[in-house]
Amino acid sequence: MVRDYTIKSLLQEGMNILNEGDFKTPLLDAQLILCYTLSVDKLYIYTHPNDKVNVETVDKFFEFINRRREGYPVQYIIQKQEFMGLEFNVAEGVLIPRPDTEILVEKVIEIVDNSLLKGKKRINIVDIGTGSGAITLSLAYYLKNAFVYSIDISKKALDVAKENSKKFGLEDRVLFLEGSLFKPLSTLNLDNNIDVVVSNPPYIPTDEIEKLQIEVSKYEPRTALDGGEDGLDYYREIVKDLSKYLTDNGVIAFEIGYNQGQDVKELLVNSGLFKKIEIIKDLSGHDRVVVGENLCL
Ligand SMILES: C[S@@+](CC[C@H](N)C(=O)[O-])C[C@H]1O[C@@H](n2cnc3c(N)ncnc32)[C@H](O)[C@@H]1O
Repeated sequence: MVRDYTIKSLLQEGMNILNEGDFKTPLLDAQLILCYTLSVDKLYIYTHPNDKVNVETVDKFFEFINRRREGYPVQYIIQKQEFMGLEFNVAEGVLIPRPDTEILVEKVIEIVDNSLLKGKKRINIVDIGTGSGAITLSLAYYLKNAFVYSIDISKKALDVAKENSKKFGLEDRVLFLEGSLFKPLSTLNLDNNIDVVVSNPPYIPTDEIEKLQIEVSKYEPRTALDGGEDGLDYYREIVKDLSKYLTDNGVIAFEIGYNQGQDVKELLVNSGLFKKIEIIKDLSGHDRVVVGENLCL
C-alpha cells in the first residue's frame, strides 16, 4: 500500500474509498476528516495540495475514513457540528444537531422579536431534551433577554451542552437540569412563569428506527429517537403540563416528524390553551414545526 501521500492525493484516496459506499457527500466527508486529522482548515488544504503528509497522520486519516465507511457519523469523528452559525461540540451518545431544527429556533426568535416578549427584561424559556444544547444555546445567544431552563434525561448530553455553554460564554443565562420532562422544575417556583416551552423530543415511531440510515439507527442514541409506538408519546406528556408552567401569553414550539403536523396540532387544539396554532414546513415541503401562541399582534 502506498504510504507516500501529499494532501491532494490523500484527499483523493479518502474520497475514492467513501465513493464505494452509499454516502451522500464523500468529498465533503473526506475534506472534513482530513482537516481534522491535520488540524488545519479547508483553505489550507486547497492552498497546500503538494505538502507531504507524515506516515502517522496518513494512518490516522485512513483509520477515520474506514470508520466513516462503516457508517459512523462524520460529526462524531471530527466532534463538531455547526448550528445557527455556532460551532457545537458533539460526542457519541448525544444527538447531532440537524439543519431542520434551525427552523424551530428561527421561529421562536421571530415570535419573540415580534411580540411584547422582546421588551421584557427577562423571558423564561424551557427546552425539554437539550442534547448538545443546540436549541437552548442558540436561543440564549440570539435572544439577549432569554434565560433557559434546559432539561435532559441524559447526563452525557448535559455534559456536552455545558461544555458548549462555556464555549459560547452563556453559562449565566442557562440552568442545566437532569431529569425527565418538566420534573426537574418542580421545586423552582416556576408555575405560570414560563414564556416559551420549546422541544425537539424523540419522535420516531419505535418500529421505524431500524429503517433509518445506518448513521442514525446504529450510532445515534436511541433515547434521543424513540417516541413510542406512534412517535407522539413525548408531545402528549409535554402538552399535559403546559397549563401549569406557561404564562397566559405563553408559547409552545415543537419540532415534529414529517407526517406528525396534524396530530400534534390536534393535541394543542384540545389543550384549549392557544389562539393560534401553526404548522411550519421544511424546505422539502414536509411538516417540521408546530407552534401554539396567543401573542399574535
Ligand atoms: C431529538 S433529541 C434533541 C436534542 C437537541 N435538542 C437537538 O435538537 O439537537 C431529544 C433529546 O431528548 C432527550 N430525552 C429523552 N427522553 C427524555 C425525557 N424523558 N426527559 C428529558 N429529555 C429526554 C434525549 O436524551 C435527547 O437529548
